[in-house]
Amino acid sequence: MNFLLLSILVICFISVCAAAIYFYFSSKKEGICIKLPSPFKEGNISLEEAISLRRSSRDFDESFISLKTVSQILWAAQGVNDKGGFRTAPSAGATYPLEIYLIAGLVSGLDAGVYKFKIKLHQLEKVKVGDLRPELSSLCSSKISVFNASVSLIICGVYERTVWKYTDKGKMYVDMEVGSASENIYLQAVTLNLGTVFIGDFDEVGVKKLLNIQNEEVPLCIMPIGKVKIS
Ligand SMILES: Cc1cc2nc3c(=O)[nH]c(=O)nc-3n(C[C@H](O)[C@H](O)[C@H](O)COP(=O)(O)O)c2cc1C
Repeated sequence: MNFLLLSILVICFISVCAAAIYFYFSSKKEGICIKLPSPFKEGNISLEEAISLRRSSRDFDESFISLKTVSQILWAAQGVNDKGGFRTAPSAGATYPLEIYLIAGLVSGLDAGVYKFKIKLHQLEKVKVGDLRPELSSLCSSKISVFNASVSLIICGVYERTVWKYTDKGKMYVDMEVGSASENIYLQAVTLNLGTVFIGDFDEVGVKKLLNIQNEEVPLCIMPIGKVKIS
């Protein structure tokens, strides 16, 4: 009887250990999704104040930001704000051609790495593990800003989603949508006491490779985000 009880206890212990090891290593793997905290819909700074304070910042103090902050900024850029699936930024014919990647470096509770924003689920999908800010920085004209930022967002466009509907003008519409999403990021960053800059000058092929993009997504803009360094 004692032997049977001991055997059961040993089997239970081994099973719990195996499950813990499995969950630990699977959380490090690519393809895993991380649920983002819900965005808040009210803030302490008025829209007018945010607009009056908006400025491009290129030097950050390398401090950690929270996952809630990341979630808020992603939501402002391209989150769903309506039961019908409509988003925080306008889109030509609601064709929604934008995709957003995150290169995380200094985010509390999130491994450094590359993530894709799963817009409809408000989740992050892990693409790659490791601090890739130096690599991203080497691919940009504004090197220092990307190197020191807590995170960088990369806004990509999928032209086909809009071009089939609007033909020639469709390509222009996708580029215009990057402007709307990026302005939302600028203003949301102000309300969170953070800074950012729109970087349009970067090695597109290199960035695509860094993000493991193997489809038609085209990186169009990089926005490093962090606490602005006071010199
Ligand atoms: C389409 C576009 C591309 C830009 N590309 C870069 C860039 O590659 N590197 C950079 O440091 N700033 C870039 N900027 C930021 C501008 O330099 C900045 O907006 C301008 O100097 C005005 O400053 P402000 O944003 O503080 O008002 C870009 C801005 C836009 C709208």
